[in-house]
Amino acid sequence: MTLALHPHAEACGKTIVLGEHAVVHGTPALAAGLPRGVTLRARPLADPRQPSTLAIAAWDLCVPLTVESEHPVAQAALEVLGHCDGPLTGWAIEGDSTLPAGAGLGSSAALTVALARLALGPEAEAESVVEASLAGERIFHGEPSGIDSQVAARGGLLRFVRGHAPTPVPLSVPLRLLVVPSGVQRRTADQVARVRSRLDRLPGLARPLIDVLGRAVDEGIAALAAGDHGVLGEIMQVCHGVLAGLGVSAPALDAMCSTALRHGALGAKLTGAGGGGCILALPGPDPAPLVDAFVAQGYAPLLVELTP
Ligand code: PMV
Repeated sequence: MTLALHPHAEACGKTIVLGEHAVVHGTPALAAGLPRGVTLRARPLADPRQPSTLAIAAWDLCVPLTVESEHPVAQAALEVLGHCDGPLTGWAIEGDSTLPAGAGLGSSAALTVALARLALGPEAEAESVVEASLAGERIFHGEPSGIDSQVAARGGLLRFVRGHAPTPVPLSVPLRLLVVPSGVQRRTADQVARVRSRLDRLPGLARPLIDVLGRAVDEGIAALAAGDHGVLGEIMQVCHGVLAGLGVSAPALDAMCSTALRHGALGAKLTGAGGGGCILALPGPDPAPLVDAFVAQGYAPLLVELTP
């Protein structure tokens, strides 16, 4: 067992650019890291036998890390630290997050990856960090596809196929993305079940829609390689329509996508499980009018820039 935690660690949040839902059925997805999603600091307590604590200011969270705790965050944190052979008592872990919890931006994976890094250190291999994160993610999500932990640990832009190591996607020019949380709650598991039911009832119609979402990923990657954000925006438009056809959009998300297009976005779509959660818009050369439009409507958009 390692006796000490490292003093500082961070991990990315994630947004799925293309391929959500279809990725569950074996096609690729394209996801982007949201830098500094979760930042943690650890300091030793005076008594090393005292229970450790975990506090995240942005989520109003403060839990003792004890085996008796029924809080899923405490259970997941102990699972991650145990997986890493880290100390299970005697530490105060504090941190913050730029991610709203439960909005489909990978907040739990960012937390579990950052915890794994406190235990394993900054030099740890991404794959070991992901393995440890997944031990905690199973507490929150049952059997997750793993995309959140991969993006949380690696950041950047990744092409991901379930069960395989992800590949980084090169950019030819900077890529700005605007993530806008709707504030509408939903459960990922319900949304995944909705797609599965459509596949069961209307396989001849739904399977081709899944295939289109998968093909959109490689067409989107080709558009990024060519630096053609106009085409990427058009692909995002197609995907929003297809996801709506699979039954996973929502009136609030459709309205937010229309707002984005009216204020200069090159494309907009739901991102993640849909039904609520967030939309993703691709800003034009000047993102200011787009950001301002959402702020004026009371939303808290997150502008992310990925660089080549
Ligand atoms: O929980 P969210 O909103 O990040 O959505 C998960 C993405 C899905 O493709 C719908 C499910 C999965 O496990 O990949």
